[in-house]
Amino acid sequence: MCGVVGAIQRGGGVVETLLQGLRLLEYRGYDSAGVAVLEAGAISIRRKAGRLERLEHSLSDGTLSGARAGIGHTRWATHGPPSDENAHPHTDAEGRVALVHNGVIENWAELRAELEAAGVRFASDTDTEVLAHLVGREVARGRELPDAVRASLARVRGYYAIAALAQGERGPRIVCARSGPPLAVAAGPDGVYLASDVLALIAHTRDVVFLEDGDVCELELGRPLRVTRIDGTVVDRPTRRVEWDPESAGKGSFPHYMLKEIHEQPDVLARTAFDRLRLDKGDVDFGVPGFGDHELRAIDRIQVVACGTALHAGWIARYLIEGLARIPVDVDYASEFRYRDPVLAHNTLALAISQSGETADTLAALRLAKTLGARTAAICNVVGSTLVRESQATILTHAGPEIGVASTKAFVAQVVAAFLFAVRLGRARGVLSLAQGKELVSELRLLRPKMESLLGERAVSEVRDIAQKNRSQRGFLFLGRGINYPIALEGALKLKEISYVHAEGYPAGEMKHGPIALIDPEMSILVVNSAGPLAEKVRSNLEQVRARGGHVIAIGSDRESIAQSDEHVLVPECSEWLSPILNVIPLQLVAYHMADLKGLDIDKPRNLAKSVTVE
Ligand code: F6R
Repeated sequence: MCGVVGAIQRGGGVVETLLQGLRLLEYRGYDSAGVAVLEAGAISIRRKAGRLERLEHSLSDGTLSGARAGIGHTRWATHGPPSDENAHPHTDAEGRVALVHNGVIENWAELRAELEAAGVRFASDTDTEVLAHLVGREVARGRELPDAVRASLARVRGYYAIAALAQGERGPRIVCARSGPPLAVAAGPDGVYLASDVLALIAHTRDVVFLEDGDVCELELGRPLRVTRIDGTVVDRPTRRVEWDPESAGKGSFPHYMLKEIHEQPDVLARTAFDRLRLDKGDVDFGVPGFGDHELRAIDRIQVVACGTALHAGWIARYLIEGLARIPVDVDYASEFRYRDPVLAHNTLALAISQSGETADTLAALRLAKTLGARTAAICNVVGSTLVRESQATILTHAGPEIGVASTKAFVAQVVAAFLFAVRLGRARGVLSLAQGKELVSELRLLRPKMESLLGERAVSEVRDIAQKNRSQRGFLFLGRGINYPIALEGALKLKEISYVHAEGYPAGEMKHGPIALIDPEMSILVVNSAGPLAEKVRSNLEQVRARGGHVIAIGSDRESIAQSDEHVLVPECSEWLSPILNVIPLQLVAYHMADLKGLDIDKPRNLAKSVTVE
């Protein structure tokens, strides 16, 4: 998705600051980039379709290196193809105002027609340019930039995070605003900054203000950040401390973020769970309101909403919560839930799961559930995100920044959080005894070395061999049952996303109802099977595959499945409830190595964006 940055700093060199910010936002996916800076009161713009290096190259002449204020953008095309002309920033016809935008202006066509009728000529196909002309017109009428932005936004329908600069102002000033996509601002010792992702701010300061929908913020050096609503009313927004370490935004010694993030998973387990475990009570303490016995006993049903990988964590949450707390759970794609006119039972808790906390469909689904009378809770990785702010209770996952577009560590953190929640619910409602609670939380404690063993050199090279032997296969079918069925879905999604091969996840018991027709030696079947009550059933599905000449790869702790397979990864034994956390690791690594062997762009797979803030 698009990225927005902006800065005014005491010394020159704002171009380098903007580029640094844009580099940190690259992971979100983009197809063009640009900057606008104020130099001696005049606006200069550079923008290029393609990778950020093209923009960097066009700035390497150093002519803008003295500038102290500027805005920057990475674009993910919505209106008009990726091209230099459609790249942001956009300006009004006289070049008085430059503006960058993330989101969609829904009434852009009608505003464009109105402006064209008044003689304005457009230089791009974008919806954003409409807003640049509106703001420019207000500035030409004598309004100061903040008033011009507020007056223009009052005419806009849609969702946006924007930042604007104007020339000829008394001192450098940037005005930014949000309605929908995230935007945060910060005042550091050397300047003032804005960004659509806090990752681009923490290099300057960890004390950040998250703007709310309808906020307009004025940034000037030496003045406090001034936040108003669109009607001009001044509002106070708290400063929050972001605990993420700027170092964690780097790749360290790993060749890709995805591999680094897969290897971080044992630590993510520890950070998300260990401080919250109460071993003596066989329970969990989230340390935040919303998870007390009284509140949890008032829930009769849970509705999970999420997208993509987070939805797979939601499916696992269903097995956990129904199994450990005996509360019925429904799970839905957020994009389906929001448009199917859902019926919610009394005393429903809507549980949204999201890494970013900004996914448009997930937010809309949660808001709808709220209007239907549900209480709301979130499992989310980003402090200050819209989802966290709008949910009545939140379990923060402490995965740290996830940069690889394909989600790995955030997924494991979501499953861990769901396990903690299920145990808490089970204890609060008296479904789990003290002894059962103790056993479950102790099992979780024991998981870390088991995860580490799956990331050791030997295990990783076994997986790479599997990837090597299967890289030319025509297709992949992932099978699992029970709590490991969502792991089959997740394994298939990872492979599709980064290796661009066709892969499907299926409940193992469903295979004979259709997909079995696909099986031949050019089809690899990854069977996820952990020792437990369903292991025998999965084994008989595995036999059905072998009988039809399918190439079987067994993943899990069930040794008999391993013995029946062509290739395998033996996973350490653990409680069945926790087995997804172990089983997913080899599947993530299969996808990673397959993509690596094919020389693909693992951290930025084609057509994908990290955070999907549009429908
Ligand atoms: C897959 C992936 C996506 C996200 C989905 C939801 O690897 O990353 O499927 O899981 O777009 O994103 P969040 O969790 O930010 O709501």
